[in-house]
Amino acid sequence: MEIREKILKLKAEKDAVILAHYYVPGDVQEVADFVGDSYYLSKVASEAKESVIVFCGVNFMGESAKMLNPDKKVIMPDLKADCPMAHMATVEGIEAARRNHEDLAVVCYINSTAEIKAHSDVCVTSSNALSVVSALPQKNIYFIPDQNLGRYISRLVPEKNFIFNDGYCHVHTSIKKDDLLKKKAELPKAKVASHPECREEILELSDFVGSTSDIIKYVEKTDAEDFLICTETGIFHALEKVGKGKRFHAVSGSQICPDMKLNTLEKLLHALETLDNELHMDEALMKKGLQPLELMLKLAD
Ligand code: 13P
Ligand code: SF4
Repeated sequence: MEIREKILKLKAEKDAVILAHYYVPGDVQEVADFVGDSYYLSKVASEAKESVIVFCGVNFMGESAKMLNPDKKVIMPDLKADCPMAHMATVEGIEAARRNHEDLAVVCYINSTAEIKAHSDVCVTSSNALSVVSALPQKNIYFIPDQNLGRYISRLVPEKNFIFNDGYCHVHTSIKKDDLLKKKAELPKAKVASHPECREEILELSDFVGSTSDIIKYVEKTDAEDFLICTETGIFHALEKVGKGKRFHAVSGSQICPDMKLNTLEKLLHALETLDNELHMDEALMKKGLQPLELMLKLAD
């Protein structure tokens, strides 16, 4: 039996649902029940009825699924798949911001550890940060961990006062202005679509900025032959499905997230066979970390 068939058979036998982010390898996306951005996947996880959630993504995504649906067993093809940016904020930094600013909301990008979430007021993802931040009553926003997403949102909500942190995504910040300018010169008619984790100089040169699912929607509705894509290249799998006949180009060879690529079909099969790779979390931490996630779901809808 093919590995794909084995996975689908085991999934039914174990009463499991498979969730996959757009950055995992295409063959893994193909066996998933749901493929999407962080916001969509967290909503799907919170509503899952199956006893097992298999999360093909990185650690903070599995943790968020567990907090949102704590009675389910959450397993991951590789528990080592972690987002380095999720660790780029500290509890000390949050406490200092709370001491130094009145009327403050600690806004935590979902790409963060459960501990950071537990000390924050509200979570956001790239697709809902604008609506969530706009809905907050507080004037001061301490935006963690990603400085690039924070800066991008701050431009769209000028009435708020943002305090930034120095976190960043090594994949998105590896995309450099010179590389983009070179590609634009080679393909002058190409549209540029970028994720807000990119550097500001990349966003300024972009025709569209948005989350992974927003980039896919933009490509689908935009009349152009060539697109320069400034995000992780796992997204090309979904882009090629919606953009038949359109051509997609990376800007540099470094647009690959090594952690997302730890999610292979072989590891997914093994995780389903053994149910070994379960994500275990501290109960008290889960309860505290759930609050900002629930507020996000409430404010974003
Ligand atoms: P999205 O929520 O846009 O899918 O982004 C997740 C992510 O990890 C981007 O690097
Ligand atoms: Fe984290 Fe960047 Fe990988 Fe997204 S692409 S999971 S932000 S390291």
